[in-house]
Order: sequence, then structure tokens, then C-alpha cells
Amino acid sequence: MTTGEFRDEDLKSRARAPSWRVEIAGSPAFPCREDQNVLEAMRHAGLNPLAIGCRGGGCGVCRVRVSDGEYFARPMSTACVPPEEAIEGLALACRIMPRTDLKMSAAPMDRCCKPKARKAA
Ligand code: FES
Repeated sequence: MTTGEFRDEDLKSRARAPSWRVEIAGSPAFPCREDQNVLEAMRHAGLNPLAIGCRGGGCGVCRVRVSDGEYFARPMSTACVPPEEAIEGLALACRIMPRTDLKMSAAPMDRCCKPKARKAA
């Protein structure tokens, strides 16, 4: 397989992925494919209702409260979204991919979820 064939197949696969409608309170709705995280789709749509940080589930700046819809969630920092809050619909936009249309709002941290820097001994 050449690199070009891989890219063609990748593009075909992406074109087949279902797309869902995502609404973040205070911003126009935008499309998000099942193989795309919400933060990436938001950025691709040129919108900025959420802050963009690490993009890897570690900093918590993209935390949201999902009020409607279903999603698949990749692992995220439990310091940013403890399990008891995940059950209530809190999630990180950079780690969730829609399985239905989604409605959500920004849910900023009431604390910093970044690990505290350790002092040198
Ligand atoms: S951008 Fe850092 S957790 Fe989402």
C-alpha cells in the first residue's frame, strides 16, 4: 500500500462517517462527524464558544455539560471530570465524539484541574 492509497481510503472512511448537529449554548450549531471530537469540529466550523487548551483531555478548559444527546468519550483526566460528574453529563469537548445530535453548555472549572507543580526537594 502506498501513502497515497492510504490517504484515499482515509478520506473515503471520513466521508462515510455519520455527522451530527452540535449546539453549544450561545453559539450557532455546527456539524460533527462520529470520528471527530466536538472541539475539533467547533474549531473547523470557525466557532469559539469554548476555550482550546491541550486538546488531549488533560487541562479542563473545554469542559462542558451535555444536556441532550449521546456521545462516546475517550479517556479524560478525572481531576477535570471526576466519575460522579461524568455520570451527570460533564465531559471534555476535546474527548467526546457524538453518536446523536448534542446540546451542551460550557462548564468552566471551579478549580484548576492541572496537577500542581512539585517543588524541588
Ligand atoms: S483542551 Fe485541554 S482538556 Fe480539552
